[in-house]
Amino acid sequence: MGIERTLVLLKPDAVARRLSGELISRFEQKGLTIVGMKLLHVTPALSKQHYAEHVSKPFYPQLEAFITSGPVVALALEGIGAISVVRAMMGPTNAREAAPGTIRGDFGTSRQMNLVHGSDGPDAAKKELAVYFKPEELLTYANPLEGMLYAGDEK
Ligand code: RTP
Ligand code: MG
Repeated sequence: MGIERTLVLLKPDAVARRLSGELISRFEQKGLTIVGMKLLHVTPALSKQHYAEHVSKPFYPQLEAFITSGPVVALALEGIGAISVVRAMMGPTNAREAAPGTIRGDFGTSRQMNLVHGSDGPDAAKKELAVYFKPEELLTYANPLEGMLYAGDEK
C-alpha cells in the first residue's frame, strides 16, 4: 500500500455549519499529514471536471448547485493507505446509512449534503490533487514524530 496522498473536500455544508475545524481535527488525530490546504469556491466548470463521472446523471444539476453554493476546504492528506483510510472515516455516501463514528454518520442526515469528499482510488487521487493544487502547493516536509506514527516495516 505504502504512503499515499488523497484529496479531501470539506463541502459547503461542512463549512457553512462551522465544522471545518472539527473535521480537520479528525484527520489530524487519525495521524494523517496535511500536505496541502486551501479555501476556494468550486465553479460550475470545476464541478463538471471534478464530477465528470456524474455529469450525465439525473442528480447532477442538484449536485452542482450544492457544491458551488459556498466555499469548500480542499485538503491534500498523506499517510500509509491514506485513500482507503479517509474513505473509511467518511462512511457511505448516504449519511443516513453511515455508522456512528464516521464523519457522515456523526454529522449528516442527507445523501447529498454529506459533508466530505474523498478520492475513491489511486487514479482519482492523482487526478483530483492535480485539479485542486498546483505542484508547488503540495508540500513535502519531515515529521519529527514519524517514529511514533508508524513502525519501520509498515511503509
Ligand atoms: P464523493 O464523490 O463526494 O466523495 O461522494 P461518494 O464517492 O460517496 O459518492 P458519489 O457516488 O461519487 O456521488 C458524488 C456526490 O453526489 C451526490 N449524490 N447525490 N441524489 C443522488 O442520488 C446522489 N447520489 C450522489 C452526493 O453529494 C455524493 O457525495
Ligand atoms: Mg465519489
